[in-house]
Amino acid sequence: MHHFEYRDGVLHAEDIPLDRLAGEIGTPFYCYSAATLRRHYSVFADAFKGQDTLVAFSVKSLSNVAVLSLLAKLGAGADVVSGGELFRALRAGIPGEKIVFSGVGKTRAEMADALKAGICQFNVESEAELIALDEVARSMNVRAPVALRVNPDVAAGSHDKISTGRKTDKFGISWSIAADVYARAATMEGIDVSGVDVHIGSQITDLAPFGSAFSKVAALVSTLRDQGHDIRRLDLGGGLGVPYHHQDATPPPPHPLDYAKVIHETASHLDLQLIFEPGRMIAGNAGILVARVTYLKENEGRHFAILDCGMNDLIRPALYDAWHDIIPVTEPAEGVGTSLIDIVGPVCESTDRFARNRDMPPLKPGDLVAFLTAGAYGAVQGNEYNTRPLAPELLVDGDRHAIIRRRPTYDEMIAREDVPDWV
Ligand code: LLP
Repeated sequence: MHHFEYRDGVLHAEDIPLDRLAGEIGTPFYCYSAATLRRHYSVFADAFKGQDTLVAFSVKSLSNVAVLSLLAKLGAGADVVSGGELFRALRAGIPGEKIVFSGVGKTRAEMADALKAGICQFNVESEAELIALDEVARSMNVRAPVALRVNPDVAAGSHDKISTGRKTDKFGISWSIAADVYARAATMEGIDVSGVDVHIGSQITDLAPFGSAFSKVAALVSTLRDQGHDIRRLDLGGGLGVPYHHQDATPPPPHPLDYAKVIHETASHLDLQLIFEPGRMIAGNAGILVARVTYLKENEGRHFAILDCGMNDLIRPALYDAWHDIIPVTEPAEGVGTSLIDIVGPVCESTDRFARNRDMPPLKPGDLVAFLTAGAYGAVQGNEYNTRPLAPELLVDGDRHAIIRRRPTYDEMIAREDVPDWV
């Protein structure tokens, strides 16, 4: 469900035609729909109504401060993985007590910042990290609220590069030593052992791996309580998949209500606060990337449309062979034929290809196209390779819109670089 649809033959973001926005801001640009963000957040949060839950939006999926502020107003917390994301979440008005800090490599400086902010929970991923956090907390005369992220050894069934819960992945503490690390943590003065955390991967479209992982951690909570630990929070991570295929019969991923049912069956008897870290489920279909066709060309019978956005703007196809629907902003006339074409960017890399042999209606230079489901892991993974400016971000809400990150000038792009006088 999203609010990007054709009206009068032109793709709109809510009530605004995208060709108008393209004329105003230039291409490429990301465009987010506030109504879609709000809707996805409430569908997810409402699935757990009546239970003690914290929905900590995974900032890494879409970190623009305007988007975080919008979600903060709905009551969202934040799942952060760096000092920078913590800074953004706080700047957006998300209170410390609704922030969880994940990630395998938190530095001592980041830990200190998070302790100052009074965050809800550190999701600790190794004994070494636990020792460091204990030291930092004691030096500040505070206790750090901690959940250990355990590795349940469950294959999430999603793309290899975004699967995190197998025992040889770098994430989490091995299942076999988890109870021992909890026992060790309980002896540390700077550590308040209060939770268990698990996250098995992203773009998961089958509920079974969630079921296996959540039953394992629920059993672990009971064991830990039997061993005397006061476990008050269970963080079940993110990972719920979203539909990327809007034009064919690919079955949609599970609805949050079905996901909630799995949790009800596996964890609701434990009587603790449940924390979720959804990213893609909220942001994915709330954003698109709009670009313009620069040229068409043919090489030995192979047809290419070259766009003005590249892998630096949307790296998912190059990194994970990810599929994004690509549709023209001007609705194709009914009955118009399609043909197979490669859709590529201008970057000097063969992987700068968004689609191979994609069945597309006719395109010509100057036409606008939109990449759907680009809200999550789109702009945030953008970079300035080939010294291409980061694509701006726009937020639409009904018939109003705002530029929430502008396109940098070339001067701004090189402003942080210095030429020493001995060069
Ligand atoms: N919590 C933790 C600890 C995570 O590592 C992640 C995502 C999430 C929550 C949010 O997962 P989500 O609900 O969005 O699936 N760049 C890749 C995705 C990497 C996901 C990394 N971790 C992509 O473009 O598909």
